[in-house]
Amino acid sequence: MKIFLDTASLKEIREAAALGVVDGVTTNPSLLAKESGDPEQILLEICRTIDGPISAEVVATDAAGMLREGRHWAALHKNIVVKIPCILEGLKATKLLASEGHRVNMTLIFSPSQALLAAKAGARYVSPFVGRLDDVSTDGMQVIADIVQIFDNYDFDCEVLAASLRHPMHVVEAAKLGAHVGTMPMSVLAALLKHPLTDIGLKRFLEDWEKAKKELGAKAAG
Ligand code: G3P
Repeated sequence: MKIFLDTASLKEIREAAALGVVDGVTTNPSLLAKESGDPEQILLEICRTIDGPISAEVVATDAAGMLREGRHWAALHKNIVVKIPCILEGLKATKLLASEGHRVNMTLIFSPSQALLAAKAGARYVSPFVGRLDDVSTDGMQVIADIVQIFDNYDFDCEVLAASLRHPMHVVEAAKLGAHVGTMPMSVLAALLKHPLTDIGLKRFLEDWEKAKKELGAKAAG
């Protein structure tokens, strides 16, 4: 499973890049709005920091506008993937951008039928929002399972990018189901690594080592 960071914070992205496990980044207008500075410059710097797919979302809601913005984002850097919302105009724009060789991440996906249409339009990634489905008493993970099955049935060249992952078990479940990518905030990435028994075990190893060194020192002195 590829791990993407779901943030536009350069501080977090630099921190995560040093871990060596981050394959890409997803941004959206809400995430970019949280950062200070020119969004274009932020995206460029993200592309220079992580050499992988970096999603930049359009804000137009008509196909012509999406196409214009999408071409602009794609021309910015080779790593940019154009993020397009899953609406009727978005499908049209996806078809055209894909035919020009641009990669599209179709976002705001909440059902398998939306994912099927996105893949047919030529999207490179579909982003089902697991957490936001859970928020409205719908099993977000079931949507991941359904999309993975549909894509497998027909060999679509489209990756399932599980998004809106809120905790480590979301990531583990998505990986078990075969989602190709999981995108998550830094807090979830950090939580994936954390285990209290690791911390307790390490503390004990170090204490035993210190104790053994002291005993050795005492023997040598005696
Ligand atoms: O990638 C989508 C993500 O940013 C949404 O996450 O937690 O706001 O539902 P959340």
